[in-house]
Amino acid sequence: MDREGSGTYVPSDDTALMVRALSSVEGGSCLEIGFGSGAVLHALRPRFSLVVGTDITSVGQARVAKGSSEAVLADRATCFRDGTFDVVAFNPPYLPSGLVEDRVVDGGRGGVEVPMRFLEDALRVVKAAGRIYVLLSDQGDLDGFVSHCVGSGLSIREAARAKLFFESLLVYEITREKTSS
Ligand SMILES: C[S@@+](CC[C@H](N)C(=O)[O-])C[C@H]1O[C@@H](n2cnc3c(N)ncnc32)[C@H](O)[C@@H]1O
Repeated sequence: MDREGSGTYVPSDDTALMVRALSSVEGGSCLEIGFGSGAVLHALRPRFSLVVGTDITSVGQARVAKGSSEAVLADRATCFRDGTFDVVAFNPPYLPSGLVEDRVVDGGRGGVEVPMRFLEDALRVVKAAGRIYVLLSDQGDLDGFVSHCVGSGLSIREAARAKLFFESLLVYEITREKTSS
């Protein structure tokens, strides 16, 4: 996870892992929460009829990031109707932090407080049979995140992983499907 002084997220290993995890995912509509540079939006565009991203970044950065996708300056997915998207993806701020001082990278308690808020919104705007993809680091409380999902009646599975020098990054796929026992 890296950033430049302007507050814009610089595409990094996590960006590349998210693009890889989504490389065979396709459908009608896709939302990326927190588009940053727009690298993930750009990769998704050829495989969806509609690709929309939200971020709390500047108007200038949104112009640069959007390419042929729709870029909305909005908090998470608050501006969308319930059950709108086939797929919702996010590489959220996930660094464990006592406080959220830098909204580009600070994930709050255990690095999962902010991702859980993103998830809550994603669950509202994804279709009933839709899929959610979230990227997290093993520096954060992955067990807590997985338990939260299972406790909420969701199915969660690892879709991709990358081992870096100091951490492993994981992309989880989350659905409302029940796993057969
Ligand atoms: C780790 S960066 C990922 C950027 C890009 N998706 C990527 O993979 O390179 C997290 C992004 O989430 C954005 N973000 C943080 N809080 C947000 C919120 N409440 N609503 C929308 N975007 C948010 C940040 O501005 C940042 O661009």
